[in-house]
Amino acid sequence: MVGEVKVRVKRFESGKGFYYREYRVKAGKYTTVLDALINIIEEQDSTLAVRYSCRMGICGSCAMVINGVPRLACETTIRSLKTDTITVEPMYNFPVVRDLVARVNELLFNNHRRVKPYLIRRDLGEQFKAEAEYKQTPLELAEYLAYSYCIMCGLCISACPIVYEKPNFIGPQALAQALRWTIDSRDEGGDERLKIVDSLDGVWACEYIGACSKVCPKGVDPAGAIQRLKIMLTINTAKSLLKLK
Ligand code: SF4
Ligand code: FES
Repeated sequence: MVGEVKVRVKRFESGKGFYYREYRVKAGKYTTVLDALINIIEEQDSTLAVRYSCRMGICGSCAMVINGVPRLACETTIRSLKTDTITVEPMYNFPVVRDLVARVNELLFNNHRRVKPYLIRRDLGEQFKAEAEYKQTPLELAEYLAYSYCIMCGLCISACPIVYEKPNFIGPQALAQALRWTIDSRDEGGDERLKIVDSLDGVWACEYIGACSKVCPKGVDPAGAIQRLKIMLTINTAKSLLKLK
C-alpha cells in the first residue's frame, strides 16, 4: 500500500484557460497514474477529460506529462514516482483540446504522413497485384525492427525542445519512421524519403539533445535514428561530389 496521494491536475477549458485542481486518491502497490485519474473521474469529478484506451502501453493514447516528464499514464505506477504529490499536465508542445487531452493531428499524424511511412516499390503492378512475396532474412528484419515498435504516442515530440522552438520541424517520431522504412530491404523509396528529410525543418534541425530517446516508452531511439539519416545524407553528398570529379 502506498497510501493517500495528492494528484494535482492541470486543467484546460476553452473560455476558462488553464488552472490546477487538486484531488486525493488512495493508491496501492500497483496503482498507475491512469488508475488514479479514472478513480477521480468515477468518484470525484466526472468533468475531468483524459484520453486512454488499451491501459497496457500499446495504444499510446494516455501520453501526458507526469511530474515534469512525458510518460504513459497507464505504465507509470504511483509508487515509482517516489513522492506523495503527483502533478499531471497535458503533453508539452501540443495544443490542448481539454484538460489532459492534447490535439496530436498536426505535429504527430501530419508529420508522420510527410515522410511516406509505407513500403514504396518502383513496380506498382507488382505491389498491387500482390502475387509476389517480399522475402526478408532475419538479419534484414533486425535492421529496422526496433524502429517499428513506435506506438505513435507523441512523447518524443512532447520532450523535444526543437519542436518548441521550430513548430515546422518534422520531429523525432516522423524522422525515426523515415529511417525505419528507408532501411527496410523491401523498400525502394529511400531516395524520395531522404529528399523530404534533408532540410532545416528535417534532420538538420536536430541538435542531438536526446530527450526524445530518453522518454520513449518503446526504446525506439529517435535521436539515434536522426543521426543515422544525417550520416546517410552525408555519404550520398560525398558520393555525388566524387562523381563530379
Ligand atoms: S518514437 Fe517512442 S516516444 Fe516517439 S511516438 Fe514512437 S513510441 Fe512514442
Ligand atoms: S492507455 Fe494505451 S498506452 Fe496507455
